[in-house]
Amino acid sequence: DNYLIIMAGGIGTRFWPISRSANPKQFHDVLGVGKTMLQQTAERFQGIIPQENIYVVTSDEFAGLVEEQLPFLSKEQILKEPQRKNTAPCIAYATYKIAKKNKKAKFVVAPADHVILKENAFQENIRTALEVAEEGVFVTLGIIPTRPDTGYGYIQYVPNDNKAQKVKTFTEKPNLELAQAFLESGDYVWNAGIFVFKLPTFKKELEKHQSRMAEQFEEGLAHYYTQEEESFIKKVYAVCKNISMDVGIMEKAQEVKVILSDIGWSDLGTWQSLYEINEKDTNNNVVEGNVITYDTQNCIIKTPAEKLVIIQGLKGFIVAEHGNALMICPKDQEQEVKKFVEEATALD
Ligand code: GDD
Ligand code: MG
Repeated sequence: DNYLIIMAGGIGTRFWPISRSANPKQFHDVLGVGKTMLQQTAERFQGIIPQENIYVVTSDEFAGLVEEQLPFLSKEQILKEPQRKNTAPCIAYATYKIAKKNKKAKFVVAPADHVILKENAFQENIRTALEVAEEGVFVTLGIIPTRPDTGYGYIQYVPNDNKAQKVKTFTEKPNLELAQAFLESGDYVWNAGIFVFKLPTFKKELEKHQSRMAEQFEEGLAHYYTQEEESFIKKVYAVCKNISMDVGIMEKAQEVKVILSDIGWSDLGTWQSLYEINEKDTNNNVVEGNVITYDTQNCIIKTPAEKLVIIQGLKGFIVAEHGNALMICPKDQEQEVKKFVEEATALD
């Protein structure tokens, strides 16, 4: 009765130009290991979730990519969203659709674009999470924070000796000041973005905190797996709220637990995170492509193999080329990337 819902509909704007709205990072082999991030995500659950219980939620335009990359999925295991409405509707759609088939379903919801290096530890944590979810709580994985990153959710927990810690507060994307305070206090961990729960837990909390959305997807029970599903979903997405699982439910939910996880986790959401996770050369550069560097340090350079690139005297820069786009940007200004990508639609 264990199901996996993979969220694969984001467009990864902070990671331009490798991640672009036509081909976002979850469909790339970002690590250069011969598998895309989506494929790695599915594989990571081998032995815990049977392939026929893996569902992927993505937008209409990416459905083809999902089909190609995970050929074992049947049509009904790929849920197509007509619009991007963030993760709460995405999870609600998948959960209610699966519930129509299996009332006893238990869910692991996972993002399609994360790196997890310690696979065994991860599997152990997921097994524990599935056990703990039996108590009727949301179970999350918590990562020891290393910097006051404002791109994550922060989970405050009450330390005890159990497998899972009781969660006191959940704060999605705090401002820098708050993130700094959380980091210093020592009783906060980062939310890894994975949620484990059984059906009644989710339904109850959705009804409580997003009641309209609960009604909308409940109504769908009459349409899922029928010819009308697509047109029904189109109508619902046109009017449903645009909100994340984190803000829409997790910040408000009472019964949440966290498993402290040492799993080699990284959300490859930014160039800096890709830089950190990769091996560096003797000058602390991360280089992929046909690149010759002179007097160049602390850079991340990712260019197509067929192009010879020569770099002289560059310190702390991102140099990235993909398709028809080239970006050169100081590493410490990469938060700006998101802005210019959102402003200029031509950069899509
Ligand atoms: N299907 C679908 N539809 N998927 C979506 C949508 C959508 O509208 N929006 C985002 N996603 C997918 C993304 O592709 C990603 O795999 C996952 O959902 C999470 O979305 P992000 O947009 O990447 O969230 P985030 O990184 O800002 O924040 C979340 O992850 C952090 C850890 O990486 C939150 O859960 C934070 O609390 C957490 O710390
Ligand atoms: Mg993310």
